[in-house]
Amino acid sequence: SQKIAIMGAMPEEIEPIIDKLDNVGTTVYGNNKYYEGSYHGQEVVVAYSKIGKVFATLTATTLIEKFGCDMLLFSGVAGAISNELSIGDLIIADGLCQHDLDITAFGHPFGYVPEGEVCISTDVGLRNIAKDIAKSKGLTLKEGVIATGDQFVANEERKNWIGTTFKADALEMEGASVAVVCNALNVPFFILRAISDSADMDASFNFDEFLESSAKISADFILSMVDAL
Ligand code: ADE
Repeated sequence: SQKIAIMGAMPEEIEPIIDKLDNVGTTVYGNNKYYEGSYHGQEVVVAYSKIGKVFATLTATTLIEKFGCDMLLFSGVAGAISNELSIGDLIIADGLCQHDLDITAFGHPFGYVPEGEVCISTDVGLRNIAKDIAKSKGLTLKEGVIATGDQFVANEERKNWIGTTFKADALEMEGASVAVVCNALNVPFFILRAISDSADMDASFNFDEFLESSAKISADFILSMVDAL
């Protein structure tokens, strides 16, 4: 039987999920807390990593290697790049890249290191399940590239550079780490984000105001995904 990892970066991103689990047990490992339980009879392990690529890499790896999860769903918030995205809107990643990875001094493109890829694709089957759910709920679900970096972007110029360089529609701080780990370990994965801000000069204020409500929109959608798996 399958064991589904559900990951966020911040407590606010996973609390709406943990609240709905049955038979929850917790384990602390590597300075993170892992919640093992069930949702409508499906076995899940839920954790938040803390913010950023390094912590996200640790948590994704732990969910797979220590807890034996065979699928990973990420839920959280993102800054919008695309003008089509407003606060509260959902986006699923078709691919993820690292916007802050730069060895261009050696002639490589932004986001590329030897033996890696600029953009890592998410599982098509999981994306199709998400699209079916969105359709049945009458929700708009955008699909696009999500750019990840160890920066809270609150600057129009930086945001536009990321949008142009990677054809990215949204940005955050963990998705590409999950992509690298799951791709390397052959684990199907899915990255969902609800918009909390537009990565501009108002971003930090909007983020503080909309983190909780947008995180809940994403978490609720992830739980309906679990029901469909
Ligand atoms: N997550 C949500 N908003 C963000 C932003 N503006 N920059 C980086 N990560 C984010």
